[in-house]
Amino acid sequence: MAGRVGIVGAGLVGAAAGYLLALTSGVREVVLTDIDTARAVSEAADIAHAAAFASTAQIGPGSYQDLAGADVVVITAGASLKPGQTRLDLLATNARIVSDIIERVLAVAPDTVLLFATNPVDVMPALAVRRFGVPPGRAIGTGCALDSARFRDRLARQFGVAPQSMHAYVLGEHGDSEVLHWSGVHVAGMKLAQFAEQLGAPLTPELQATIAKEVRTSAYRIKEGKGVSNFGIGGCIARLTQALVNGEQTVFTVSTVMDHVLGVPDTCISLPHLLGARGASAPMMPPLDEAETEALRHSAEVIREAIAVALA
Ligand code: LAC
Repeated sequence: MAGRVGIVGAGLVGAAAGYLLALTSGVREVVLTDIDTARAVSEAADIAHAAAFASTAQIGPGSYQDLAGADVVVITAGASLKPGQTRLDLLATNARIVSDIIERVLAVAPDTVLLFATNPVDVMPALAVRRFGVPPGRAIGTGCALDSARFRDRLARQFGVAPQSMHAYVLGEHGDSEVLHWSGVHVAGMKLAQFAEQLGAPLTPELQATIAKEVRTSAYRIKEGKGVSNFGIGGCIARLTQALVNGEQTVFTVSTVMDHVLGVPDTCISLPHLLGARGASAPMMPPLDEAETEALRHSAEVIREAIAVALA
C-alpha cells in the first residue's frame, strides 16, 4: 500500500474516483474534500464502509490543510455538462473554480502532482502551468485516457477480443475534436485491418465511422440516460493515480501543456505519456497518417483558443 491521494470535489465523479481508488488501486490513504463539508464527510464514510470489505485503504474527509504531503491531488470540482452543452461551454465557470482550487492546493502541497478531471479538462493544466508555474509534468489532464478506454472497449466487443489485447488510442481534445488514431491500432502484433481480415470481419469505412461516432459521443449518450457520466471517469482517475503513486511508467493518453505541437503554440492535448512517480513524461508523437495529422492540428488549435480565453 503506497501513496496518499487527495480528491477535491466529492460529487458523483469525485465519489466514484474515491470509491475505486480505495477499493482497487492499492493506495494507502484517500482524503476527500468538498466545499460542502457534509457531502465530503458522508461520501467518505460510505466509501470507507465499502473499503472495509475489500482493502486496507484509509479514506476520510478533510480540509485543504489535510492535503499537505499528498502525492497526487485530483481535481473533480466544477459544473457538469447540461443537455445540449459541449465541454468547452463550461470554460468560464470551471476555469474560475479550478484556478481558485489550484491556488489553495499549492499553498499546502506545492510539490504534489495535480490530476485534473474537471471539464474542459485540457484547459486546466494550463492554468496550473501558466498562472502558478507548476512544471508541465506535474499538471496532468485525464484528457483522452478515458476516450482511449472507450475506443479499446468498443473495438474489443466488435472483434471478440479482450480490451487488454486491443491497443488503441484517442488523441487531441477530450471533446468533439478528438482524433481516433486508427492507423496506430494493433492487436496480436498486427494492424487492426490485417487482424480483421484474418477473422473474416473486414474493417470497412462505414464500420470505422460508426465506431468513431459512438466513442466520440459516449458521454453525451450516458448523460442523456442517467444525467452524468461518473464511473468511466472515476475508473480512469483511479487507474492514472495508481500509475503515478506506484511509479509504473505506464503509457496513457493524458494531456499536458505543450509550447508547440504540429505548429500550434501554447496548447494542451492528449498524446501518449509515461505516468510515473514524478508525474507525466514529455509527450510522445506517434506516426500519423495525413488525415490524422490535420485533425490533430485542428484539435490542438481548438484547445489553444480555449486556453487563451481562460488565461485572458
Ligand atoms: C466524459 C466526461 C468525463 O467523457 O468528460 O465522460
